[in-house]
Amino acid sequence: MSGKIEKRRLFLPVVLFGLLSLGPAIHFSPTQPSFQTSLGLKEETKSTPRPLIKVPLGLPEIPVPASNPLTKDKIELGRQLFFDKRLSEDATVSCASCHDPHRGFSDGNRLSRGIHGLKGLRHTPTLINVAFQPYQFWDGRASSLEDQSISPLNNPAEMGLVAQEAVKRLKRLPGYGEQFQKVFLAPITRESISLALASFERTILSGNSSYDQYVAGNKNSLNQKALEGLRLFNGKAHCNLCHQGFNFSDGLFHNLGVGWNGKEFSDRGRYDVTAIFKDRGAFKTPTLRQIVQTAPYMHDGSLSTLEAVLDFYDHGGNPNPHLDVLVQPLHLTSEEKEALLEFLESLTGQE
Ligand code: HEC
Ligand code: HEC
Repeated sequence: MSGKIEKRRLFLPVVLFGLLSLGPAIHFSPTQPSFQTSLGLKEETKSTPRPLIKVPLGLPEIPVPASNPLTKDKIELGRQLFFDKRLSEDATVSCASCHDPHRGFSDGNRLSRGIHGLKGLRHTPTLINVAFQPYQFWDGRASSLEDQSISPLNNPAEMGLVAQEAVKRLKRLPGYGEQFQKVFLAPITRESISLALASFERTILSGNSSYDQYVAGNKNSLNQKALEGLRLFNGKAHCNLCHQGFNFSDGLFHNLGVGWNGKEFSDRGRYDVTAIFKDRGAFKTPTLRQIVQTAPYMHDGSLSTLEAVLDFYDHGGNPNPHLDVLVQPLHLTSEEKEALLEFLESLTGQE
């Protein structure tokens, strides 16, 4: 592998990669770039078999399609591709440029910025727990991670490298050819790039938050304020009508009126996928895990803080002809908003 890729240690204060528990079988040769969390990879002392991915508290097993089984080498290959800027047209942008592990796998910008600083049309969503999502993208236009993962390469406003060119480029780079051969027993193809990327994406997990510990029986892990926030979340503020289940998403699409200017939507969202009238301005319910790390918020990044998000819901969203009936004015007091905020903060994963 050429020395072009910086060898970095990622310091991830909270987000857990399943890879932490991979054990001894992972071996990073000194010539290969590798990325690991602050915990590093543990040395195995016994030869007892361990699960490939240790799922953090509060999450179920990762769903994995039979057509793309998880293996440690494939995940590692996907990880290298994810951080490799040479996969963009001018070698300036990697997946991680927008999905930055230090920012909960988002980028802190209102709208994403790709090669040559080109602005995207939407805000970069987090990649945390994407393995559990039935649909990918704000409008749900892809369902599997395998379908999704090659598209940013092709997108002229993101990485701008057509898949065939990416294949050619990877073939020229020393190291990758042998790695693909080892993992897929075949030369590099567009399909195998997406299989490796998807495998890595499945290991980006966040759980074991104070909330998960509370649910698991540690009644002291949430303070009074956060508990009050949890009650409001499931009660008066009824956030759980949409942000439900272990990943705080129903996996469905709702219109909150974000992007409605009084006349039209700046982005028609789900409608562009389904052509169903009521889907105008509807977007996928995002996870709320790690939410304090991923500002600004919403598909257009228009709300810069969680306080602004709570005010937005308190006013009943942005009324428009397609507003979801589940969005109603909440009449929250400022103490109640603070409690909700405290609860949202408790959704940050711990090591
Ligand atoms: C220029 C910034 C940028 C780059 C580079 C980028 N992404 Fe994204 N990513 C986005 C944006 C913006 C969206 C939302 C697009 C939409 O909904 O239409 C997104 C969406 C996604 C999603 C769907 C997440 C969800 O919750 O719906 C996944 C998965 C993803 N990207 C993975 C990747 C991978 C893998 C790469 C590298 C091959 C990559 N991205 C490169 C900006 C970027
Ligand atoms: C009707 C379903 C629904 C309800 C009720 C709801 N949400 Fe949402 N939430 C969504 C959808 C859909 C989005 C994305 C909307 C968009 O980008 O246009 C979203 C976005 C968010 C975001 C931004 C996430 C991000 O990554 O950008 C936060 C934070 C949030 N909701 C918190 C809450 C809280 C707190 C409540 C209760 C006060 C709540 N939601 C109630 C559906 C809902």
